[in-house]
Amino acid sequence: MRIIEAKDYADMSRKAANVISAQVILEPRSVLGLATGSTPIGAYKQLIDWYNKGDIDFSQTKSVNLDEYIGLDGSNDQSYRYFMNTNFFDGINIKKENTFVPNGKAPDMEAECKRYDELIKSLGGIDLQLLGIGHDGHIGFNEPGAAFEKTTHIVELEEATIKANARFFGSEEKVPKKAITMGIKSIMQAKKLLLIANGPDKKDIVEKALHGPVTPMVPASILQFHPNLTVVYCFN
Ligand code: GLP
Repeated sequence: MRIIEAKDYADMSRKAANVISAQVILEPRSVLGLATGSTPIGAYKQLIDWYNKGDIDFSQTKSVNLDEYIGLDGSNDQSYRYFMNTNFFDGINIKKENTFVPNGKAPDMEAECKRYDELIKSLGGIDLQLLGIGHDGHIGFNEPGAAFEKTTHIVELEEATIKANARFFGSEEKVPKKAITMGIKSIMQAKKLLLIANGPDKKDIVEKALHGPVTPMVPASILQFHPNLTVVYCFN
């Protein structure tokens, strides 16, 4: 595990963007596992900036996202598809058809879970997975529970997660109660992992996840077992 302490959010974002850009420069055909939330926005902005300067080319890159709210389609401005388009994909030259986000409006969600696992397999797995972390230790939407959920699955969001995400929706009532998320197995099978965390409110959970016991009650704690994990954080 490599742990990099950043000076501030801008520094964390640049360092994370450096890791992602190195991946794409060295292996232009990389499959990037991408994440949503407020934490990666700065890294995406930095990558767009470097793309505009001609430093990175995403034309051969593919991406798979971790999760999506159930009930929201890609045109809903709170969906993770919309987030990815507006915060990243629209600013770079990745081909939209090479970007994948679970479909939160699929008529058969169980079938959608299977399809997403097959899709990741058919892409040859994930080369570099970017991860944020929730206050309860969730990664993607893998919430604390009795066991690590291995494959793509449907989750009932924790009260704490709904509260934390209410800021984007305007009120708690508007936050969808369910989501579809990539499982722990697909995340752990990524060749490299990059976990980013920002703000004093993330300090305790990051310490628990990285140095505490490995337990499904803190889903991110499983990352301790990954052979190539880089963590960039800033707790200021
Ligand atoms: C959401 C996402 C996670 C993300 C987490 C933290 O619940 N599903 O992938 O890591 O929020 O978000 P933030 O970066 O806004 O703290």
